[in-house]
Amino acid sequence: MEEILLIDDDEGLVHFLSRFFERKGYAVTACADGPCAIEKIGEKSFDLILLDYKMPELNGLDTLSAIKDVEVKTPVILMTAYGTTELAIEAMKRGAYDYLVKPFERKDLSRIVNEALQVNRQMKEVVRLPAATEPSEKSPPASTLQIIGNSRKMQEIYKLIGQVAEKDVPVLITGESGTGKELAAKAIYHHSRRKEKPFMAVNCAAIPESLFESELFGHERGAFTGADRTYIGKIERCHGGTLLLDEIGEMPTALQAKLLRMLQENEIERLGSSQSIKVDVRILAATNKDLEKAVEAGTFRKDLYWRLNVISLNLPPLMDRSEDIPELVDYFLKRFAAEYDRSVCYMAEAAMNKILAYSWPGNVRELENCIRRAVLLSSGDVVAEGNLMIPQAAPPCPASAERHEQLINGLKSKLEEIIPEILRLSVQDAHANIIEMVEDTLITKALEECDNNQVQAAKMLGISRNTLRHRLKKQSDKQPPEAEEETKTDPSID
Ligand SMILES: Nc1ncnc2c1ncn2[C@@H]1O[C@H](COP(=O)(O)OP(=O)(O)OP(=O)(O)O)[C@@H](O)[C@H]1O
Ligand SMILES: [Mg+2]
Repeated sequence: MEEILLIDDDEGLVHFLSRFFERKGYAVTACADGPCAIEKIGEKSFDLILLDYKMPELNGLDTLSAIKDVEVKTPVILMTAYGTTELAIEAMKRGAYDYLVKPFERKDLSRIVNEALQVNRQMKEVVRLPAATEPSEKSPPASTLQIIGNSRKMQEIYKLIGQVAEKDVPVLITGESGTGKELAAKAIYHHSRRKEKPFMAVNCAAIPESLFESELFGHERGAFTGADRTYIGKIERCHGGTLLLDEIGEMPTALQAKLLRMLQENEIERLGSSQSIKVDVRILAATNKDLEKAVEAGTFRKDLYWRLNVISLNLPPLMDRSEDIPELVDYFLKRFAAEYDRSVCYMAEAAMNKILAYSWPGNVRELENCIRRAVLLSSGDVVAEGNLMIPQAAPPCPASAERHEQLINGLKSKLEEIIPEILRLSVQDAHANIIEMVEDTLITKALEECDNNQVQAAKMLGISRNTLRHRLKKQSDKQPPEAEEETKTDPSID
């Protein structure tokens, strides 16, 4: 249960807020002044603190500074009846997460509180690497996520995370959807020198374009219609910390220039202001898009791409590290059995075989969801094959089987017509040339059909992904560099 600390000398408000939060399932502790709150914080840790500005003894700002000395990560929301910009900015400079102007509406309270609790979870949920690469920790944090996998490819990833975490530079994290990019970003944060400072994540695909600039860079009061208060953007709030720009490929081009300036000069300007503000934020960026292609297409700035790509981490698709699947299955089984209070802890052999035979296009996220469902559906302590909802290749319907036969016959008769003529020309290596040409066409067309997704193309062709890779490599060895780009979709690190 998440713990909220209320600090306010207004008994009526404390009563209202306590009921409001308790009804939502939070545990509430209330204090009427700053010194009492500081004592409470020394006794236990909180997930969110709501702090009044005007109080006897210590005012809100001084209480905030004292809180931040011991609890850097817990978000603090300042409540004030004196809604001046100066006070709010001062509070944010001292590390407040946000502020509410009294009297506030329930919907504003709920929105800010939900956001702050989400940030709190992200900051405090520590991501650990496998034991061999993890420095020993005296008291493991309450909430821990583990990155699983001992394949050679994952070991390379751990090595890179270890190397780059300490360096205070941007990192570009790429990989197909569900491969663990966000998890890797959190691992970098938790192993960096900024681990005691804020961590925030912005999903660039989820913010409407019109709000994007203000969300990241903030705005001054009156900067646009409806801007009725100064808003401190995520970059400023993250001062001293780490900001993950998720789905960076979706960032509007106009803002990419502003981000580049921030990376180069450590300065930003709020929307509606020409005053530069110094910021110190480490940027981590993640994407499942091919940014090189986006640069070519003109949707992503080349200079920003180079700036972000100084260090990149490429997470392998699950199929390229299938040896990690049993360990991941085991980890998710244990995690979900504990989460749902179930005794399930074994995977039946037939179920495991089914898992191993599937291609997991949705990567670890798809596997995680599959095991979560299986744990919920199973009865007893063994997950049976029938508990797994793994999509099966659909059997061809009679009409399509007929069409297939027609097309194959058509192809055969065309080949029978053309091949004798080629043979009569008695060119060198006729056999190898024809086979190679047919295979190249087959692979190129299958990739086109699957939007360059190699896992799906291999499935469509009925060959393994490695065989497809091998053939593609052969193709690209023969081709000039420009043509090579077309098929370069392999996001693995080597
Ligand atoms: N190596 C791993 N070990 C354990 N859990 C993992 C691993 N990789 C991913 N996961 C889990 O899989 C889920 C998806 O991971 P994550 O959100 O980091 O993927 P992503 O690459 O950011 O996906 P998307 O591109 O769709 O945003 C998460 O619940 C994450 O905890
Ligand atoms: Mg993600």
